[in-house]
Parts: sequence; C-alpha cells; structure tokens
Amino acid sequence: MAYRIAVVGSGYVGLVTGLCFAETGNHVVCVDIDQQKVEQLNRGQLPIYEPGLGVLLERNLRNGRARFTTDLAEAVRFGTVVLLCLPTPPQEDGSADVQHVFAVAERIATLLQQDSVHEPRLIVTKSTVPPGTTQRLQALFAQRLPDRRVVVASNPEFLREGTAVEDFMKPERVIIGTRDAWAEHVLRELYEPFVRSGNPIYVMDETSAELTKYAANAMLALRISFMNELSAYCEALGADIEKVRLGIGSDSRIGKRYLFAGLGYGGSCLPKDVRALVQSARSLGVHFRLIPAIEEVNHAQAERFVGRILKRLEPVHGRCVALWGVAFKPNTDDIREAPAFRVIDPLLHAGVCVRAYDPEALPNVQRRYGERLQYAASMYECLEGADALVIATEWNEFRNPDFELMRSRMRQPLIFDGRNLFSPEEMLERGFEYHSIGRPSAVPSGMA
Ligand SMILES: NC(=O)c1ccc[n+]([C@@H]2O[C@H](COP(=O)([O-])OP(=O)(O)OC[C@H]3O[C@@H](n4cnc5c(N)ncnc54)[C@H](O)[C@@H]3O)[C@@H](O)[C@H]2O)c1
Repeated sequence: MAYRIAVVGSGYVGLVTGLCFAETGNHVVCVDIDQQKVEQLNRGQLPIYEPGLGVLLERNLRNGRARFTTDLAEAVRFGTVVLLCLPTPPQEDGSADVQHVFAVAERIATLLQQDSVHEPRLIVTKSTVPPGTTQRLQALFAQRLPDRRVVVASNPEFLREGTAVEDFMKPERVIIGTRDAWAEHVLRELYEPFVRSGNPIYVMDETSAELTKYAANAMLALRISFMNELSAYCEALGADIEKVRLGIGSDSRIGKRYLFAGLGYGGSCLPKDVRALVQSARSLGVHFRLIPAIEEVNHAQAERFVGRILKRLEPVHGRCVALWGVAFKPNTDDIREAPAFRVIDPLLHAGVCVRAYDPEALPNVQRRYGERLQYAASMYECLEGADALVIATEWNEFRNPDFELMRSRMRQPLIFDGRNLFSPEEMLERGFEYHSIGRPSAVPSGMA
C-alpha cells in the first residue's frame, strides 16, 4: 500500500529517499530547515548535483506526490512514517554528533503530544547513528508519549553519492532494525518495489542494524587503507600496486572492488564513520587496535604524496600547480573531507599557488577557499603556465585528455597522479614526467 511519509532533512540521503519513495507511489513531504533549499526544490531545482535525481524531482512535483516545506509540524501531522535523514557530523573527539537527531525527536514528541489524532507513528533513523541510538530514541518516545504507539526503527542507508538514485532503486540489501512486527511490515512494504530481483531484506535488532552500517564503512575504508599502505612499499620496492591489485582482486574471497590505491578515502561518510565507530566502542571500554589505524594510514598517504610533490618542485615558493578534481569522488559536487584538501592545504602553506578545476564542485570549493585559490573554467585552462598537474579526483573527462594540448599549456610536462589514471610507460612515450601511486615513476631523460 502507499504510505504518507515525512522525510526530515532534505540533503543527499533525504532527497534521494523521499523522491524514490514518491516514485513508487507514496506521498512524501520533505522537511528542511534551509528555507532557500526548500524554495529551490519546490521550484523544481536541485540544490545538489546527483545524476538521475532531477527527473525524479520534476515528475513527483508535477504529479503532486512530493513537496517540500520548512514546517516540521505539518510534516509530522501528515506522515505515518517519519524518516530521519539528518546530519550526524563528527565532534572534536571523533564521536558522531547526534544532537540534530535528538532535537528533532524531542520536537516530534512535543508535536505528537499536541496532536489529537492518535494514529500510530513509525519513526525511522536513516541517518548513520552510533549503535544504541535508536533504542535511546525509543525510550525518549516511550517516556514522552506513554499512551501512544510510536515505534522507532533503524534503517541505515547504503547509497553512494554519484550513483545514489540507482543504489536506492536497486539496493544490494536492505537492513531493517526492529523487533516490532508492524514496523517490519511497513518497511518491507516500502522497500518491496526495490528488491524485486531478489536482493535480500535483512531484519535484525536495532543496534545490530546500526552497527552493520558502521561495520560496512569501516571495512571499505580498511580495504582502501590496506592498498595504500602496500602502495608505499611498492614505491620503495619498484613494484606495481596495480598489478598486485589485479592479482589479489581476482581471488573471489577478496573481490575486486575498493582495492584502488590512491590519495585515500574522503567524503561525508567514511572518515567520520570510522572515527565514530572507534569512539562508540571506546565509550563502552572496547579499545580497537586495527580500526584506528585505518585513518592513520589514510592521512599518511596524502602526506607522502604531497612530500613527493614539494620535493620535486623545490624551491617551491611561487610555483604554480594545476589541480584536476576537488570533489571527494567523481559524479558528485560534494567536497566534505575531500582528499584534495589534504593536497591543497599543505601546498598553499608552502607558498605554492594552486589553480583548481572540477566539473561540478567549484561553487562549493569557492565557498571554502575564496581567493586563496585560482579557479579554471576548463581542464585545459587550468594548466596554463603550470609547473605541475596534480590529479586528485578520477572524473571520466580526465581519463582521455589531449596530451599534446596539455603539454602546450604547461610550463613543463610534469604530472602527479593521485588516482593512477594513466600508464607510466605510455606517459614516458608521450614525453611526460609522471608520478603516480604505488608504481615506478616515469622520468624522460633530461627531466628531474
Ligand atoms: N551522503 C551519503 O552518501 C550518505 C550515505 C549513507 C548515509 N548517510 C548518512 O545520512 C545522514 C545524512 O547525510 P547527508 O549526506 O544526506 O547530509 P546532508 O548534510 O546532505 O543533509 C542533511 C540535511 O538536513 C538538514 N537539516 C539539518 N538540521 C535539520 C533540522 N533540524 N530539521 C530539518 N532539516 C535539517 C540540512 O539543512 C541538510 O539539508 C548522515 O547521518 C550520513 O552519515 C549519508
């Protein structure tokens, strides 16, 4: 059956979730505190770049199944199901800040106390929250509304920015954390259209569901850090991490994905979730050894890369570096904890001028760096007079560039590739000095 759904928080997760549920026939009200964002969305304009989302927005506004508001009260009155898609940013000590989630839960409890219609409500934590949070929220509602049927369930989200709509529409699995039969039934019905091909819906207790999300992100980050740690060794040995990747990835026990050495992971999830997992365990007296090292390796990777750039550019002051890609990964405009920052910041600190190009993220980059960076309107304009090119994000348009044009724009044909886009042998043939991650550098005679 079709449900009335309120989505609280209309960011990457809330917007995708709300519009996908509207697409499958539900009636959805999305709430956000950002008035400008809400007005933009009601006009049919997306505040973020996410492939495939624009069509969903346009269609579901037109057919009246999705609308946007800043009024939480209206949404809570409307929704039988209330999805919390609020930010859970990292605090100073790394733990997840759940204040937005609890503040909204308190307000919902107050609104429900004032509501004369005693309809049952299902509140769902879609935000990534420390294990135990959903049960704490359940206790809050039980205490504030002892006579009402308010169930809180966990339903962590696994979408990836850049392919968020596809991920939501075809999830590899859906995790439902609840021990309540009605909540399970509602969530199963909501997700049924997305798992027609037979992908599983796993139902478990709330806390295991919450931990599943953290465990997944920590495992992905671990794979990246594992390869990055080996890449440093490859560089010292003269071995090739790409060959090692192919060799181990073809073992079905290991698998091919998330084994790319590079500048390290970033974004709004992996870094914060790894830290939050460590802190969450620590708060119960469990001191992980392996998981904290994931982040150490991640930082060391960028430091090592920058060290190589600065050493090669000596004397560095006044040098100009072109930077391709700032978004934390391709196909998004999201720059939260972008690995590119771990290159830009130390370069600026060393007195290097940085000119950045990104196909989608430049408005966000400009908001962060203002006049401290130069900005280019195209990947080739970015190279004008540059002493070196640094590649920080593997956007598709960087994969087959016009190398002749590149050479003609740069002061010298020198590339530091943090994403291993090209083959060192071919770059040598093209006359570039080419440094990448975990592979031997290509240095034409007469350079370096
Ligand atoms: N971005 C991802 O790829 C992803 C994937 C899986 C899980 N998650 C998790 O989902 C949660 C949301 O992430 P996101 O990337 O969508 O965040 P986001 O910052 O893009 O969106 C959060 C939205 O909530 C709004 N908001 C803040 N306080 C509010 C309030 N009191 N009332 C209403 N709206 C409010 C903000 O204005 C913003 O639009 C986080 O816990 C994150 O870890 C994110």
